[in-house]
Amino acid sequence: MNHGVDVIGSREDPHASIRAARGLPLMLHSLSVLREQFEIVFAHRKIKKVVEVGVESGQVSSIYTELGADEVYCVDPFPSDELRAALAEHPRLHLVERASPEVLAELPVADLYVIDGDHNYAVVNAEVSWITANAPNAVVVFNDLLWPCARRDMYYQPSPLPESDRHESSDQGPTVFHDELTPAGLVGLGAFTWAVEAGGERNGVLTAVEDAVEAAGADDWYLEVVPAVFGFGILMRKTAPGADKIMAGLRPYTHSKLIATLEANRIALYSRVLQMQYEAVAHADDADRLAESINAQRYEIDRLRAELDRVTHEADELRRENDRLRDPVSAMPVPDLTSAARNLKRAAGHWVKQARQG
Ligand SMILES: C[S@@+](CC[C@H](N)C(=O)[O-])C[C@H]1O[C@@H](n2cnc3c(N)ncnc32)[C@H](O)[C@@H]1O
Repeated sequence: MNHGVDVIGSREDPHASIRAARGLPLMLHSLSVLREQFEIVFAHRKIKKVVEVGVESGQVSSIYTELGADEVYCVDPFPSDELRAALAEHPRLHLVERASPEVLAELPVADLYVIDGDHNYAVVNAEVSWITANAPNAVVVFNDLLWPCARRDMYYQPSPLPESDRHESSDQGPTVFHDELTPAGLVGLGAFTWAVEAGGERNGVLTAVEDAVEAAGADDWYLEVVPAVFGFGILMRKTAPGADKIMAGLRPYTHSKLIATLEANRIALYSRVLQMQYEAVAHADDADRLAESINAQRYEIDRLRAELDRVTHEADELRRENDRLRDPVSAMPVPDLTSAARNLKRAAGHWVKQARQG
Protein backbone atom coordinates (compact mmCIF):
# COMPACT_ATOMS: atom_id res chain seq x y z
CA MET A 1 0.00 0.00 0.00
CA ASN A 2 1.20 3.51 -0.81
CA HIS A 3 -0.18 5.20 2.23
CA GLY A 4 1.26 5.42 5.71
CA VAL A 5 -0.24 5.24 9.17
CA ASP A 6 -1.48 8.84 8.81
CA VAL A 7 -3.93 7.65 6.13
CA ILE A 8 -4.59 4.06 7.10
CA GLY A 9 -4.14 3.95 10.89
CA SER A 10 -2.53 0.97 12.58
CA ARG A 11 -3.43 -1.82 15.01
CA GLU A 12 -1.66 0.06 17.79
CA ASP A 13 -3.07 3.46 16.80
CA PRO A 14 -6.33 2.86 14.93
CA HIS A 15 -7.31 6.56 15.11
CA ALA A 16 -4.09 7.96 13.67
CA SER A 17 -5.66 8.59 10.30
CA ILE A 18 -8.55 10.62 11.58
CA ARG A 19 -6.73 12.53 14.32
CA ALA A 20 -5.41 15.13 11.87
CA ALA A 21 -8.93 15.68 10.58
CA ARG A 22 -10.02 16.84 14.04
CA GLY A 23 -7.88 19.94 13.62
CA LEU A 24 -9.25 20.86 10.19
CA PRO A 25 -12.04 23.38 9.63
CA LEU A 26 -15.46 21.86 8.93
CA MET A 27 -15.32 23.15 5.35
CA LEU A 28 -11.90 23.07 3.70
CA HIS A 29 -11.55 25.99 1.31
CA SER A 30 -7.86 26.88 1.40
CA LEU A 31 -5.48 26.10 -1.45
CA SER A 32 -3.09 24.83 1.23
CA VAL A 33 -4.87 21.47 0.89
CA LEU A 34 -3.52 21.26 -2.67
CA ARG A 35 0.16 21.05 -1.81
CA GLU A 36 0.47 17.82 -3.81
CA GLN A 37 -0.75 19.62 -6.95
CA PHE A 38 1.60 22.57 -6.38
CA GLU A 39 4.44 20.05 -6.06
CA ILE A 40 3.64 18.84 -9.59
CA VAL A 41 3.76 22.42 -10.90
CA PHE A 42 7.09 23.15 -9.19
CA ALA A 43 8.54 19.80 -10.31
CA HIS A 44 8.18 20.69 -13.99
CA ARG A 45 8.69 24.41 -13.98
CA LYS A 46 11.31 26.69 -12.46
CA ILE A 47 9.33 29.06 -10.28
CA LYS A 48 11.20 31.86 -8.54
CA LYS A 49 8.65 34.66 -8.27
CA VAL A 50 5.07 34.14 -7.13
CA VAL A 51 2.22 36.65 -6.99
CA GLU A 52 -0.44 35.36 -4.65
CA VAL A 53 -3.71 37.29 -5.03
CA GLY A 54 -6.01 36.80 -2.02
CA VAL A 55 -4.03 35.59 0.99
CA GLU A 56 -6.49 35.47 3.91
CA SER A 57 -4.68 33.58 6.72
CA GLY A 58 -1.45 33.11 4.75
CA GLN A 59 -1.48 29.35 5.17
CA VAL A 60 -0.56 28.75 1.51
CA SER A 61 2.08 31.47 1.14
CA SER A 62 4.94 29.59 2.75
CA ILE A 63 4.26 26.47 0.64
CA TYR A 64 5.64 28.36 -2.39
CA THR A 65 8.94 29.16 -0.67
CA GLU A 66 9.16 25.62 0.71
CA LEU A 67 8.85 24.36 -2.87
CA GLY A 68 11.62 26.66 -4.12
CA ALA A 69 10.29 30.19 -4.77
CA ASP A 70 12.60 33.10 -3.87
CA GLU A 71 9.97 35.82 -3.50
CA VAL A 72 6.25 35.70 -2.89
CA TYR A 73 4.16 38.87 -3.22
CA CYS A 74 1.13 38.33 -1.02
CA VAL A 75 -1.60 40.69 -2.28
CA ASP A 76 -4.55 41.32 0.01
CA PRO A 77 -6.32 44.66 0.61
CA PHE A 78 -7.83 43.44 3.91
CA PRO A 79 -4.99 41.74 5.86
CA SER A 80 -5.73 40.67 9.42
CA ASP A 81 -3.25 41.30 12.26
CA GLU A 82 -2.56 37.55 12.32
CA LEU A 83 -1.63 37.63 8.64
CA ARG A 84 0.71 40.60 9.15
CA ALA A 85 2.37 38.79 12.04
CA ALA A 86 2.64 35.49 10.12
CA LEU A 87 4.18 37.11 7.02
CA ALA A 88 6.55 39.28 9.07
CA GLU A 89 8.33 36.09 10.19
CA HIS A 90 9.23 35.15 6.60
CA PRO A 91 11.71 37.48 4.83
CA ARG A 92 10.77 36.03 1.42
CA LEU A 93 7.02 36.68 1.84
CA HIS A 94 6.06 40.30 1.09
CA LEU A 95 2.67 41.63 2.13
CA VAL A 96 1.21 43.91 -0.54
CA GLU A 97 -1.74 45.66 1.03
CA ARG A 98 -3.41 46.57 -2.25
CA ALA A 99 -6.22 45.32 -4.48
CA SER A 100 -5.82 43.27 -7.63
CA PRO A 101 -6.02 43.74 -10.60
CA GLU A 102 -4.73 47.35 -10.27
CA VAL A 103 -1.63 46.26 -8.34
CA LEU A 104 -0.45 43.60 -10.84
CA ALA A 105 1.34 46.08 -13.11
CA GLU A 106 3.29 47.46 -10.13
CA LEU A 107 4.76 44.08 -9.12
CA PRO A 108 7.60 42.13 -10.75
CA VAL A 109 6.42 39.78 -13.51
CA ALA A 110 5.99 36.39 -11.84
CA ASP A 111 6.43 32.75 -12.87
CA LEU A 112 3.33 31.75 -10.95
CA TYR A 113 0.14 33.72 -10.31
CA VAL A 114 -2.30 32.33 -7.78
CA ILE A 115 -5.68 34.00 -8.27
CA ASP A 116 -7.96 33.70 -5.24
CA GLY A 117 -8.94 37.29 -4.40
CA ASP A 118 -12.21 39.00 -5.29
CA HIS A 119 -14.38 36.32 -6.87
CA ASN A 120 -16.28 38.08 -9.62
CA TYR A 121 -16.25 38.51 -13.37
CA ALA A 122 -14.94 42.08 -13.52
CA VAL A 123 -11.92 41.47 -11.27
CA VAL A 124 -10.97 37.98 -12.48
CA ASN A 125 -11.42 38.82 -16.15
CA ALA A 126 -9.15 41.87 -15.72
CA GLU A 127 -6.57 39.77 -13.80
CA VAL A 128 -6.40 37.03 -16.45
CA SER A 129 -6.39 39.54 -19.31
CA TRP A 130 -3.44 41.34 -17.70
CA ILE A 131 -1.52 38.10 -17.15
CA THR A 132 -2.11 36.65 -20.62
CA ALA A 133 -0.91 39.95 -22.11
CA ASN A 134 2.01 40.68 -19.76
CA ALA A 135 3.18 37.32 -18.40
CA PRO A 136 2.01 34.85 -21.06
CA ASN A 137 4.44 32.13 -19.98
CA ALA A 138 3.43 32.21 -16.33
CA VAL A 139 1.58 29.37 -14.69
CA VAL A 140 -1.80 30.65 -13.50
CA VAL A 141 -3.62 28.84 -10.74
CA PHE A 142 -7.13 29.65 -9.52
CA ASN A 143 -9.40 28.67 -6.75
CA ASP A 144 -13.21 28.59 -7.05
CA LEU A 145 -13.61 27.70 -10.72
CA LEU A 146 -16.55 25.43 -9.79
CA TRP A 147 -19.86 25.90 -7.94
CA PRO A 148 -20.81 28.27 -6.38
CA CYS A 149 -18.46 30.91 -7.88
CA ALA A 150 -18.17 29.45 -11.39
CA ARG A 151 -21.27 31.18 -12.77
CA ARG A 152 -22.23 33.56 -9.95
CA ASP A 153 -20.32 36.69 -8.91
CA MET A 154 -19.24 37.23 -5.33
CA TYR A 155 -18.21 40.71 -4.17
CA TYR A 156 -15.90 41.34 -1.22
CA GLN A 157 -17.21 44.26 0.83
CA PRO A 158 -16.83 47.16 0.58
CA SER A 159 -16.66 46.58 -3.16
CA PRO A 160 -14.54 49.07 -5.10
CA LEU A 161 -16.28 48.09 -8.37
CA PRO A 162 -18.52 50.61 -10.14
CA GLU A 163 -22.17 49.60 -10.30
CA SER A 164 -21.85 48.91 -14.03
CA ASP A 165 -19.42 46.05 -13.16
CA ARG A 166 -21.70 44.50 -10.54
CA HIS A 167 -24.86 42.44 -10.76
CA GLU A 168 -27.65 43.01 -8.28
CA SER A 169 -26.36 41.35 -5.11
CA SER A 170 -27.60 40.08 -1.77
CA ASP A 171 -26.42 39.11 1.73
CA GLN A 172 -28.08 35.72 1.23
CA GLY A 173 -26.03 32.78 -0.03
CA PRO A 174 -26.18 29.85 -2.46
CA THR A 175 -27.24 26.37 -1.41
CA VAL A 176 -27.18 23.03 -3.22
CA PHE A 177 -30.88 22.50 -2.46
CA HIS A 178 -32.29 25.04 -4.94
CA ASP A 179 -31.10 27.62 -7.46
CA GLU A 180 -32.06 30.76 -5.52
CA LEU A 181 -30.06 32.41 -2.74
CA THR A 182 -31.20 31.76 0.82
CA PRO A 183 -30.28 33.05 4.29
CA ALA A 184 -29.54 29.38 5.11
CA GLY A 185 -26.85 29.13 2.39
CA LEU A 186 -23.14 30.02 2.16
CA VAL A 187 -23.60 33.57 3.43
CA GLY A 188 -20.81 36.16 3.66
CA LEU A 189 -21.82 37.55 7.09
CA GLY A 190 -20.88 41.06 5.98
CA ALA A 191 -17.55 40.06 4.37
CA PHE A 192 -19.04 39.50 0.89
CA THR A 193 -22.29 39.43 -1.06
CA TRP A 194 -23.52 37.24 -3.94
CA ALA A 195 -25.11 38.08 -7.29
CA VAL A 196 -28.83 37.39 -6.98
CA GLU A 197 -28.93 35.59 -10.34
CA ALA A 198 -26.45 32.92 -11.44
CA GLY A 199 -25.45 32.34 -15.05
CA GLY A 200 -25.69 34.49 -18.14
CA GLU A 201 -22.96 36.75 -19.44
CA ARG A 202 -20.25 38.47 -17.37
CA ASN A 203 -21.15 36.49 -14.28
CA GLY A 204 -18.85 34.23 -12.24
CA VAL A 205 -15.18 33.31 -12.01
CA LEU A 206 -15.09 30.53 -14.60
CA THR A 207 -17.00 32.68 -17.11
CA ALA A 208 -14.40 35.43 -16.50
CA VAL A 209 -11.48 33.04 -17.16
CA GLU A 210 -13.13 31.51 -20.24
CA ASP A 211 -13.76 34.95 -21.78
CA ALA A 212 -10.21 36.16 -21.08
CA VAL A 213 -8.75 32.97 -22.58
CA GLU A 214 -11.05 33.27 -25.59
CA ALA A 215 -9.81 36.83 -26.12
CA ALA A 216 -6.18 35.60 -25.88
CA GLY A 217 -6.84 32.83 -28.44
CA ALA A 218 -8.36 29.80 -26.72
CA ASP A 219 -6.53 27.23 -28.88
CA ASP A 220 -3.18 28.38 -27.52
CA TRP A 221 -4.01 27.66 -23.90
CA TYR A 222 -4.60 24.76 -21.56
CA LEU A 223 -7.34 25.31 -19.01
CA GLU A 224 -8.02 22.41 -16.63
CA VAL A 225 -9.75 22.04 -13.27
CA VAL A 226 -9.08 19.69 -10.37
CA PRO A 227 -12.67 19.30 -9.10
CA ALA A 228 -11.77 19.67 -5.41
CA VAL A 229 -11.82 22.44 -2.79
CA PHE A 230 -14.33 24.41 -4.93
CA GLY A 231 -12.34 23.96 -8.14
CA PHE A 232 -8.56 24.28 -8.42
CA GLY A 233 -7.98 25.67 -11.91
CA ILE A 234 -4.75 25.77 -13.88
CA LEU A 235 -4.14 27.88 -16.98
CA MET A 236 -1.00 27.73 -19.13
CA ARG A 237 -0.05 28.73 -22.60
CA LYS A 238 0.60 25.47 -24.47
CA THR A 239 4.07 26.61 -25.51
CA ALA A 240 5.09 27.74 -22.00
CA PRO A 241 7.98 25.82 -20.40
CA GLY A 242 6.76 22.70 -18.60
CA ALA A 243 3.13 23.09 -19.76
CA ASP A 244 2.70 19.58 -21.21
CA LYS A 245 4.37 17.86 -18.25
CA ILE A 246 2.39 19.83 -15.70
CA MET A 247 -0.90 19.05 -17.44
CA ALA A 248 0.08 15.37 -17.68
CA GLY A 249 1.07 15.29 -14.01
CA LEU A 250 -2.25 16.81 -12.98
CA ARG A 251 -4.31 14.62 -15.30
CA PRO A 252 -5.20 11.95 -12.69
CA TYR A 253 -6.79 14.76 -10.67
CA THR A 254 -8.27 16.89 -13.47
CA HIS A 255 -9.95 13.85 -15.03
CA SER A 256 -11.13 12.11 -11.88
CA LYS A 257 -14.88 11.55 -11.68
CA LEU A 258 -14.34 10.15 -8.19
CA ILE A 259 -12.87 13.46 -6.95
CA ALA A 260 -15.71 15.39 -8.60
CA THR A 261 -18.32 13.16 -6.94
CA LEU A 262 -16.69 13.42 -3.51
CA GLU A 263 -16.47 17.21 -3.90
CA ALA A 264 -20.15 17.52 -4.85
CA ASN A 265 -21.05 15.33 -1.90
CA ARG A 266 -18.84 17.36 0.46
CA ILE A 267 -20.53 20.59 -0.62
CA ALA A 268 -24.00 19.03 -0.29
CA LEU A 269 -23.20 17.85 3.25
CA TYR A 270 -21.85 21.25 4.20
CA SER A 271 -24.95 22.95 2.77
CA ARG A 272 -27.00 20.61 4.93
CA VAL A 273 -24.95 21.59 8.01
CA LEU A 274 -25.47 25.29 7.22
CA GLN A 275 -29.19 24.74 6.83
CA MET A 276 -29.39 22.84 10.12
CA GLN A 277 -27.41 25.60 11.87
CA TYR A 278 -29.80 28.17 10.44
CA GLU A 279 -32.81 26.15 11.58
CA ALA A 280 -31.30 25.62 15.05
CA VAL A 281 -30.77 29.39 15.43
CA ALA A 282 -34.32 30.04 14.17
CA HIS A 283 -35.71 27.51 16.69
CA ALA A 284 -33.64 29.04 19.50
CA ASP A 285 -35.01 32.48 18.52
CA ASP A 286 -38.55 31.04 18.56
CA ALA A 287 -37.92 29.51 21.98
CA ASP A 288 -36.59 32.88 23.27
CA ARG A 289 -39.66 34.67 21.92
CA LEU A 290 -41.93 32.04 23.52
CA ALA A 291 -40.14 32.35 26.88
CA GLU A 292 -40.50 36.15 26.72
CA SER A 293 -44.20 35.81 25.97
CA ILE A 294 -44.67 33.28 28.83
CA ASN A 295 -42.89 35.63 31.25
CA ALA A 296 -45.06 38.56 30.17
CA GLN A 297 -48.19 36.42 30.61
CA ARG A 298 -47.03 35.24 34.07
CA TYR A 299 -46.47 38.83 35.11
CA GLU A 300 -49.96 39.73 33.88
CA ILE A 301 -51.47 36.74 35.76
CA ASP A 302 -49.72 37.87 38.99
CA ARG A 303 -50.95 41.42 38.46
CA LEU A 304 -54.53 40.22 37.87
CA ARG A 305 -54.34 37.94 40.94
CA ALA A 306 -53.28 40.88 43.14
CA GLU A 307 -56.07 42.97 41.65
CA LEU A 308 -58.56 40.17 42.36
CA ASP A 309 -57.39 39.92 46.00
CA ARG A 310 -57.76 43.65 46.43
CA VAL A 311 -61.25 43.71 44.88
CA THR A 312 -62.36 40.64 46.92
CA HIS A 313 -61.18 42.33 50.11
CA GLU A 314 -62.99 45.51 49.15
CA ALA A 315 -66.18 43.53 48.41
CA ASP A 316 -65.98 41.81 51.85
CA GLU A 317 -65.64 45.20 53.53
CA LEU A 318 -68.62 46.56 51.63
CA ARG A 319 -70.69 43.48 52.42
CA ARG A 320 -69.96 43.89 56.14
CA GLU A 321 -70.73 47.61 55.99
CA ASN A 322 -73.97 46.83 54.17
CA ASP A 323 -74.97 44.31 56.85
CA ARG A 324 -74.29 46.87 59.58
CA LEU A 325 -76.36 49.55 57.86
CA ARG A 326 -79.32 47.21 57.28
CA ASP A 327 -79.58 46.06 60.99
CA PRO A 328 -78.56 48.97 63.32
CA VAL A 329 -79.61 47.02 66.47
CA SER A 330 -77.45 44.07 65.79
CA ALA A 331 -74.76 46.54 64.93
CA MET A 332 -75.03 47.96 68.54
CA PRO A 333 -72.62 46.54 71.09
CA VAL A 334 -74.15 43.55 72.99
CA PRO A 335 -74.50 44.32 76.81
CA ASP A 336 -72.62 42.03 79.18
CA LEU A 337 -75.66 40.32 80.81
CA THR A 338 -73.59 37.58 82.45
CA SER A 339 -71.61 39.88 84.73
CA ALA A 340 -74.81 41.93 85.49
CA ALA A 341 -76.56 38.73 86.59
CA ARG A 342 -73.52 37.79 88.67
CA ASN A 343 -73.57 41.24 90.46
CA LEU A 344 -77.35 41.00 91.03
CA LYS A 345 -76.93 37.54 92.58
CA ARG A 346 -74.15 38.81 94.82
CA ALA A 347 -76.32 41.81 95.99
CA ALA A 348 -79.34 39.57 96.62
CA GLY A 349 -77.21 37.21 98.71
CA HIS A 350 -76.03 40.19 100.73
CA TRP A 351 -79.61 41.43 101.37
CA VAL A 352 -80.77 37.97 102.46
CA LYS A 353 -77.86 37.71 104.85
CA GLN A 354 -78.65 41.14 106.36
CA ALA A 355 -82.35 40.31 106.71
CA ARG A 356 -81.53 37.09 108.59
CA GLN A 357 -79.20 38.84 110.98
CA GLY A 358 -81.64 41.72 111.61
C1 LIG B 1 -10.75 33.00 -0.33
S1 LIG B 1 -9.69 34.07 0.47
C2 LIG B 1 -8.09 33.53 0.01
C3 LIG B 1 -7.70 32.22 0.57
C4 LIG B 1 -6.27 31.82 0.34
N1 LIG B 1 -5.88 31.97 -1.04
C5 LIG B 1 -6.13 30.35 0.73
O1 LIG B 1 -6.24 29.51 -0.15
O2 LIG B 1 -5.91 30.08 1.93
C6 LIG B 1 -9.91 35.54 -0.44
C7 LIG B 1 -9.03 36.71 0.02
O3 LIG B 1 -9.03 37.67 -1.03
C8 LIG B 1 -8.92 38.95 -0.48
N2 LIG B 1 -9.36 39.91 -1.51
C9 LIG B 1 -10.58 40.42 -1.71
N3 LIG B 1 -10.55 41.28 -2.75
C10 LIG B 1 -9.29 41.27 -3.23
C11 LIG B 1 -8.63 41.93 -4.30
N4 LIG B 1 -9.28 42.76 -5.13
N5 LIG B 1 -7.32 41.71 -4.48
C12 LIG B 1 -6.65 40.84 -3.66
N6 LIG B 1 -7.21 40.19 -2.65
C13 LIG B 1 -8.52 40.39 -2.44
C14 LIG B 1 -9.80 38.85 0.77
O4 LIG B 1 -9.40 39.82 1.73
C15 LIG B 1 -9.52 37.43 1.26
O5 LIG B 1 -8.51 37.42 2.23
